[in-house]
Amino acid sequence: MALQTINPTTTEAWKKLQEHFITVQTKHLKDLFSEHPERVEDMSIKWEDFFVDYSKNRITSTTKAHLIELANEVQLKDAMAKYFGGDVINQTEGREVLHTALRNPEGAEVIVNGINVMPEIFEVKLKIKNFSDQIIDGTLTGHSGKPFTDVVNIGIGGSDLGPAMVVDALSYYQNHLTPHFVSNVDGDHVNEVIKNLNPETTLFVIVSKTFTTQETLSNANTIREWFLSHAPQNAISQHFVAVSTNIEKVKAFGIDEQNIFPMWNWVGGRFSLWSAVGLSISLSVGYENYDALLLGAHKMDQHFRTEPFESNIPVITGLLSVWYNNFFNSESEAIIPYSQYLNQFATYLQQGIMESNGKGIDRNGDKIDYQTGTIIWGEPGTNSQHAFFQLIHQGTKLIPAEFIGFAKSLHGNQDHQDKLMSNFFAQTEALMNGKTEDTVISELKAQGHSQETIEKLTPFKVFDGNRPTTTILINKLTPESLGKLIAMYEHRIFVQGIVWNIFSYDQFGVELGKQLANTILEELNAENVINNHDESTQSLIDHYNSLK
Ligand code: F6P
Repeated sequence: MALQTINPTTTEAWKKLQEHFITVQTKHLKDLFSEHPERVEDMSIKWEDFFVDYSKNRITSTTKAHLIELANEVQLKDAMAKYFGGDVINQTEGREVLHTALRNPEGAEVIVNGINVMPEIFEVKLKIKNFSDQIIDGTLTGHSGKPFTDVVNIGIGGSDLGPAMVVDALSYYQNHLTPHFVSNVDGDHVNEVIKNLNPETTLFVIVSKTFTTQETLSNANTIREWFLSHAPQNAISQHFVAVSTNIEKVKAFGIDEQNIFPMWNWVGGRFSLWSAVGLSISLSVGYENYDALLLGAHKMDQHFRTEPFESNIPVITGLLSVWYNNFFNSESEAIIPYSQYLNQFATYLQQGIMESNGKGIDRNGDKIDYQTGTIIWGEPGTNSQHAFFQLIHQGTKLIPAEFIGFAKSLHGNQDHQDKLMSNFFAQTEALMNGKTEDTVISELKAQGHSQETIEKLTPFKVFDGNRPTTTILINKLTPESLGKLIAMYEHRIFVQGIVWNIFSYDQFGVELGKQLANTILEELNAENVINNHDESTQSLIDHYNSLK
């Protein structure tokens, strides 16, 4: 069944939110706290090892109630049943959206075209397990009999960002295999990676859902050529495996059928790390940890499916995003993990969030006249405090920020951990409370400044505060908690897409550039260049040709 096509701005809840916004926008968070003594109790969610505190947001209980009304009016519950139930909710591509099935327990039933897909999923999971076990324990070796030392994932977008982020995030749990990721068609990328590799002990995992992506095929070809300059042709079968839906194209590339890990069209690229696309995760941290990641995601799926909206983490956080995006007109949101392990987290989420919800046509096919698609960016704290926090604290833009932290450090250095977490807590406190003029003046006085200097400096040192944050405090970074965290964002994407009445699971917006690049590539290599571009593009191409 198709998704509903309700324009959110026509709902009663939207109108209520618009009116209600007029009073909330002028309120300071400090006052919201003093007016509502049980605020933290009412605006936080404790679930498993997660503590989500959203009390430092510019909302009241009425805002929350209206936002939930909005979710009800756009029939979120009905949409969720379609999402998990395998309906063709990716209507523009005619596909189901079933990455959630990949993390279901064995024995679950998910029907696609009359067939339960769970047995196939578990068949592939077993193949992933057997293969990674044998590579890790050295049963499978390179062509000269030496055990593998390095694994190179060749893929881009969803076939790179998810595995790369997770492998990096779980590096504490890594085994002896050194992971590498080649994605960019920039030849310097692939050459930097292969220059230090030993072809005798390196495994290449080519990941491409379609097996037609220019970047991935170019890198795979370059690597194969390099490999064959060091190894015999028949060594390919020991060193190259592929993950794809396009079995024929993979075979044509020269990869043995037994070395193909299948995936399905009902798994979107940016949601595919739970499929065999996550093979390099399993190779890097072992199958058990990979499976724990999936278990975490499944637990979040269950929470999302069954928890009332009032205490449902993806629903509440997704609606908060709508509140800032559509009522405060916030231009972007920051995601700040206080863990160096999550260095690639925001980059990974950019594809998930922006490729999914960066849409300007609604589910009726009409042009949208309200804001969709939040812009996401971020870097780990505390580094980011020394980079862009100035703008979040004192700039002219309202940037809701999400702080993700872990109570326990993995290496157990408590001194560092306390310093890290004191910054984590201090930042959200500072963003909320700011610093008043009185405090600034008394501080300057205490430092012995003259009255004249105090008067001059004071305006620059005042912090208005009232900058909203959400804090997600998790016990420890484990494969399972990471799985929960990623799935939380996946479901948020869904919630927002439903509210905005858009199709979140296609990505036609990336096609035009690809098409034009193919045309220009042909022209760059043609004898007689056809001048078929605007003047700017043509002069850039001419300049390039004159230099190359
Ligand atoms: O650039 C868009 C995109 O289609 C992504 O959605 C996808 O993750 C990526 O390209 C890679 O595609 P493939 O896995 O088919 O190589």
